[in-house]
Amino acid sequence: MSAQFPVARPRRLRRTPALRRMVAETRLAPADLVLPMFVKEGIAGPQPVASMPGVVQHTRDSLRKAAHEAAEAGVGALILFGIPAVKDGTGSGADDPAGIVQLALRDLASDLGDAIVVMTDLCLDEYTDHGHCGILTAGGEIDNDATLERYASIAVAQAAAGAQVVGPSGMMDGQVGVIREALDKGGYTDVSILGYSVKYASAYYGPFRDAAECAPQFGDRSTHQQDPANADESLREVFLDLDEGADMVMVKPAGAYLDIVRRVRDAVDVPVAAYQVSGEYAMIEAAAEKGWIDRDRTIMESLVAIRRAGADMILTYWATEVAKKLR
Ligand code: PBG
Repeated sequence: MSAQFPVARPRRLRRTPALRRMVAETRLAPADLVLPMFVKEGIAGPQPVASMPGVVQHTRDSLRKAAHEAAEAGVGALILFGIPAVKDGTGSGADDPAGIVQLALRDLASDLGDAIVVMTDLCLDEYTDHGHCGILTAGGEIDNDATLERYASIAVAQAAAGAQVVGPSGMMDGQVGVIREALDKGGYTDVSILGYSVKYASAYYGPFRDAAECAPQFGDRSTHQQDPANADESLREVFLDLDEGADMVMVKPAGAYLDIVRRVRDAVDVPVAAYQVSGEYAMIEAAAEKGWIDRDRTIMESLVAIRRAGADMILTYWATEVAKKLR
């Protein structure tokens, strides 16, 4: 019994896969995963998104099939993004009862019922010809309060079509309060709000702008999305959204903001979601395609890390694939 040997041997619990599984602190489950899906008006078949291999813009039909597959795999929820055939200054496709997302919501409600939670992204950038998240003034600035009226109307249109959760992602001040009031007045007191409360002005959204065809035609989103240099204001945004009636809050992007996920998780008593965004997806897919990293291990590690940081739910484009693997 010489003193040169270690007293503590943490490696004992890492010795076999069964031991490691037993002591794992963090587990992923299919129900924690949320699949973002794109549905586009007026296309004959699903269109691959070049910067997101494996992701497509769906037709109504292909969306139904993919949503069914996600539900079968046990994925917790899906979140819908719509791309209208025609865009205009006010994004009128967004709250049209015959708009693409509303039609898709009705399809999914009749196909799937309660088998999977159906959420919507609630924003204008996919619907406006200028690609901004709101209504513009004559001088080309985003008019916060005029935009809120549009968001209220979109919320009601989405709820009427069967959205169970709406996710306002435009980062306008006061958006959650206005949407809650509109939903309640419309009789949709049961529809919940997932606030994209913490949303950074991030370069990681690049590939999404191909998928949703929503790159701003001029300027950027840094007057409304958060500066990556800031952390404290994330809590301010979260508490404002909770005061205004958010049922759940989100941090976005996820991977580069794990410190924020942890701070939010420690500060609130509602479910916290984190969005593993398009750029996070594209980086792993691209490096794997080059043979530079192990794709499957990297995907799992990226998701476990987000969960470990404190996210209850993870929005990820790999949701169906990972759910199948976890089963
Ligand atoms: C706005 C919205 C964006 C994303 C989700 N909702 C784009 C943006 O704010 O520019 C990005 C998602 C991703 O990158 O995967 N409707």
